[in-house]
Amino acid sequence: MSDDHDHHDDHELRVSKIRSGTVIDHVRGGQALNVLAILGIDGSDGEEVSVGMNVPSDRLARKDIVKVEGRELSQDEVDVLSLIAPDASINIVREYEVVEKHRVERPDVVEGVLSCPNAECITTGGEPVTSQFEVLDDGVRCSYCDTIVREEIASLIDT
Ligand code: CTP
Ligand code: ZN
Repeated sequence: MSDDHDHHDDHELRVSKIRSGTVIDHVRGGQALNVLAILGIDGSDGEEVSVGMNVPSDRLARKDIVKVEGRELSQDEVDVLSLIAPDASINIVREYEVVEKHRVERPDVVEGVLSCPNAECITTGGEPVTSQFEVLDDGVRCSYCDTIVREEIASLIDT
């Protein structure tokens, strides 16, 4: 084993392995707390969660990593995650083994998961209209009122 490899292993051990659940890896540095917000995790329900922030990574200069014990993610959650963590990989772990690994994919459109910040938008009044946003390279655009959101996408999540 080369010295480089030893180094890499050291970094990986920074956040301990989980038994069963989901590891969201290769999250852009600084986005881990937004990942938790998307998953609706604030610790108050007693979830077992480990977070690494700004840990050294081969693929990204610095990455965040979120490990959630006993939880798998819905497609809606993965779609929204892709907006703030486009390089993330989702690893499903069972009995300590990674049994599934996939990269998030950015959808062209997200429906019903974000709410428009524009109070005048038809989707935010009493009308039964499902929100819809087009996914841009650097944000999202409401399909109804064209409002563009680039920062703080996580704060639009409908919970
Ligand atoms: N992991 C974990 N608990 C386990 C198994 C894996 O927390 N029981 C974590 C690893 O620490 C790693 C991620 O899940 O951050 C993916 O594991 P693995 O596929 O073994 O690592 P790599 O091959 O380095 O993944 P990649 O190629 O996606 O970087
Ligand atoms: Zn709108």
